[in-house]
Amino acid sequence: MPTLAELERQASACVACPLAAGRTNVVFGTGSPGARLLLVGEAPGRDEDLAGEPFVGRSGKLLDRLIEEEIGLGRSACYIANVVKCRPPDNRDPTPLEVAACRHFLDGQLGELHPAVVVTLGNFASRALLATSEGVTRLRGRSYPFGDAVLVPTFHPAAALRGGGVVLAQLRADLVRAKSALEAAAAGRPAH
Ligand code: URA
Repeated sequence: MPTLAELERQASACVACPLAAGRTNVVFGTGSPGARLLLVGEAPGRDEDLAGEPFVGRSGKLLDRLIEEEIGLGRSACYIANVVKCRPPDNRDPTPLEVAACRHFLDGQLGELHPAVVVTLGNFASRALLATSEGVTRLRGRSYPFGDAVLVPTFHPAAALRGGGVVLAQLRADLVRAKSALEAAAAGRPAH
């Protein structure tokens, strides 16, 4: 299995889908290679495309605050990635072709990191990783077995920025669930 560094090098030269033509940077993912927690978003936006790093815009600032407040972890202690590594134009959803072309990078990240807990942020990532068409509003509020890990679906932080207090409170509650799952994994207890 390629290392994270090898995968990142491959991604930086990837032209497997049309998104390659419009990108400034490939946004491979960032954080600690030893992270027990992997957070997965949809795809880079404008700020991320320019910075080459996931979740650096307004959503990212909120995400950083929430993982610090609810899980007690800074961004550098987690690993943050997206389903798709290049920015779709006009922030449209990635197409099935783009997701399929990019999926091996996320699978490689999962295999290399071997996280205890995966938090999917929003409909897109939750559906992609749980292989379902169900929306995150229905999926959230519980955890799911995900290989050796536990998957906790929650809202995208952008939804909390738009949706206000109730969405934010549910996002916080889901992160508390992720924290409990991390603690259970560290103690060798079943997490779901
Ligand atoms: N939204 C995402 O899903 N991912 C990012 O990296 C930024 C915004």
